[in-house]
Amino acid sequence: MAESILIYQNATKEAKYKQILPQINALIEPETDRTANLANIAAVLKEVFNPLWVGFYEWKTDELVLGPFQGPIACARIKSGKGVCGKSFEIAKTIVVPDVDKFPGHIFCSNSSKSEIVVPIIRNGEVLAVLDVDSYKLNHFDDVDQEYLEQLANLISNKW
Ligand code: SME
Repeated sequence: MAESILIYQNATKEAKYKQILPQINALIEPETDRTANLANIAAVLKEVFNPLWVGFYEWKTDELVLGPFQGPIACARIKSGKGVCGKSFEIAKTIVVPDVDKFPGHIFCSNSSKSEIVVPIIRNGEVLAVLDVDSYKLNHFDDVDQEYLEQLANLISNKW
C-alpha cells in the first residue's frame, strides 16, 4: 500500500480529484474491511481538500448512523428525510447546499459549517450510505465536486 497520497498542491480542484481517485482505488482495492476503507477515504479527502468535516453515514435498519469521519464530533443518527443527509438518502440524489442557513431542516453539527454537499452511495438502486462534506466557506461546492464525489461514491459502492 502507498504510504501517502501524492498530490500537486497547486493543481486545480479538478486536477486534484483526478489525481486522488486512482490512488483511492488502489488504496481500497486490496482491503476487504469497509470501515477501514471508509476511514482511509475520509482521511484522504481531509488531507487533500481540508474541509471542516468529511465522513460517512451508513444506513442501518431504519436510520443513518455515523461512520468513519474526520472533523469535529457529529450527530450520531439521522432519520430518512431529515437534514441534508436524510434528504439525500430519501431522494437518492446528490444535494449541493450553497448556504446551510437556507436549507430547511439542515442539522447543525458545527456552527462553522457554511456550505455542504451530500452524495448517496447507491448499489442496485438501494442507498447504502451517504458521503457528507462540510465547508467553512459559503458556496464552496460546485459541479466539479459533484461529478468527482459521485465517481468516488461509485467506486465505494462497487466494493460494498
Ligand atoms: N449537516 C448534516 C448533518 C451531518 S453534519 O454536518 C456532519 C445534515 O443536515 O444532514
